[in-house]
Amino acid sequence: MGYPVTRLRRLRANERLRQMVRETRLTADDLIYPVFVTHGRGVRKAVEAMPGVYNFSVDTLLAELAEARALGVKATIIFGIPLVKDEAATEAYADEGIVQQAVRAIKKELPDLLVITDVCLCEYTSHGHCGVVKDGRVLNDPTLELLARTALSHVRAGADLVAPSDMMDGRVKAIREALDEAGYVEVPIMAYSAKYASAFYGPFREAAGSAPQFGDRKTYQMDFPNAREALREAELDLEEGADIVMVKPALAYLDVLRRVRDRFGCPVAAYNVSGEYAMVKAAAQKGWLDERAVVMEILTAIKRAGADLILTYHAKDAARWLAEEM
Ligand code: PBG
Repeated sequence: MGYPVTRLRRLRANERLRQMVRETRLTADDLIYPVFVTHGRGVRKAVEAMPGVYNFSVDTLLAELAEARALGVKATIIFGIPLVKDEAATEAYADEGIVQQAVRAIKKELPDLLVITDVCLCEYTSHGHCGVVKDGRVLNDPTLELLARTALSHVRAGADLVAPSDMMDGRVKAIREALDEAGYVEVPIMAYSAKYASAFYGPFREAAGSAPQFGDRKTYQMDFPNAREALREAELDLEEGADIVMVKPALAYLDVLRRVRDRFGCPVAAYNVSGEYAMVKAAAQKGWLDERAVVMEILTAIKRAGADLILTYHAKDAARWLAEEM
């Protein structure tokens, strides 16, 4: 039935009507707040390319997360900046590693905040790659044991969920086996399944000091023209025991997100990455974009494309704005 019987503008006439027919609703439950933790006390070091993002020490991180929690953010994902980087990524799985210390402190002070840990080696290796390097190559299988040890040490410290972001083949299986063997059969894995070799990670590498010292990550992260391959990655991760799969980055990959959501029944996460955040912040600082409006549009679009969960540095602001809209 066409015009004039049908007039789609009728349901757009006012905010009340528009709210009633809204198809996608972003809520604070969807948000996961990524944070960076470093050694020391009283540290709150700004990350230049990510206004509003800091490297925190454990004490200042607790205050930051208490504030986020009060605003309605219910989950965080932790990235660590170690004291020493070496070939074996020793601090990644050390009992007194910075992530392990942070997790213990957060679970003690803010027990109802869901704590996810990023499981990767690149912040901890001297060469900045996500795996063991030999003769200039990133080796897959020897990396798996280190990733499994890292995940297990995070869970021992109290992590509610672990999120491997390295893109080695077989890492979900290795982590699942290690957790099960230690009795942690109920701790879920959120796999960075379709993680692309993306230029949008630039600001994160400044924040985490994790840029590769030679070459790039293209032999393990996905090539950006590919989408069918993302479905194979997600399928394998699910077979290996992933509970949640992730697409990363989000904005340039909304088609991939939609395809993953349509193909699989599991919850899907999307990572609104550092470069996406930096672009919005830079334009907003120049007065070229309305930050609040643009952030809500972006996060809602990511949800509309199929994300159940969104990892975003905008989490605190978004939670505050969502509460104000209520
Ligand atoms: C670690 C990791 C990276 C990000 C999340 N985990 C960086 C990378 O792969 O180089 C990027 C997150 C962001 O850009 O916000 N492997």
